[in-house]
Amino acid sequence: MKKKVNLGVLISGSGSNLQSIIDNIEKDFLDAMVKVVISNNSNAYGLERAKKHQIPTVVIKHQDYRNREDFDRKMVDILKSYSVDLVVMAGFMRVLSPLFLSAFPMKIMNIHPALLPSFPGIHAQKRAAEYGVKFTGCSVHFADEGVDTGPIIIQAIVPAYDDDTEDTLAARILREEHRIYPQAIQFFAEDRIEVTGQKVHIKGSDRITSTPLHNPSLTIF
Ligand code: GRF
Repeated sequence: MKKKVNLGVLISGSGSNLQSIIDNIEKDFLDAMVKVVISNNSNAYGLERAKKHQIPTVVIKHQDYRNREDFDRKMVDILKSYSVDLVVMAGFMRVLSPLFLSAFPMKIMNIHPALLPSFPGIHAQKRAAEYGVKFTGCSVHFADEGVDTGPIIIQAIVPAYDDDTEDTLAARILREEHRIYPQAIQFFAEDRIEVTGQKVHIKGSDRITSTPLHNPSLTIF
């Protein structure tokens, strides 16, 4: 039997990326298991999604901690207690401290709804729509001490139209997020990710290719 990567997923909200990871695992497209879902928001709908699939959930409210380090230490303890190999930030609205980053070096992924390094930080879809870019997209990257600055693993390109609102653009981007996040995790599971400084090379990949979950848009990794 193939070894499965133990995932710890961090969420703050809807959890649709979490859902796509769970669905891909259940379809056997992903050699992984979600061991625990942690939310800093007790109302996050993602918690319900996890419970439906019998995945353990933990709510840790950052407001209950004196500082970022104490909050992060608690999360690290929980993730370690579930033997997590890879931390997956899926709509988790907190920046991680050096304490957390050093506990999982190059083992923390994040997804961002823009083509980084454009539009880092919050409201990326709104800012892209307002700026008038013709293309935007999403990026899966390793977390580092900056905001959305770590090495980029995969990006997908999405067109932005004149009549797009924040919501229509966000929905188009989200469909691509649901496709590329599982793909990035599978690369990790297959031990194909090589990081040199800011650059990520996917071992055995063509220059430009589509993912197993076929989609007309362009995905680059
Ligand atoms: C996604 O757009 C993700 O890129 C961003 O927050 C959103 C989370 O969506 N970081 P969901 O909670 O996975 O539905």
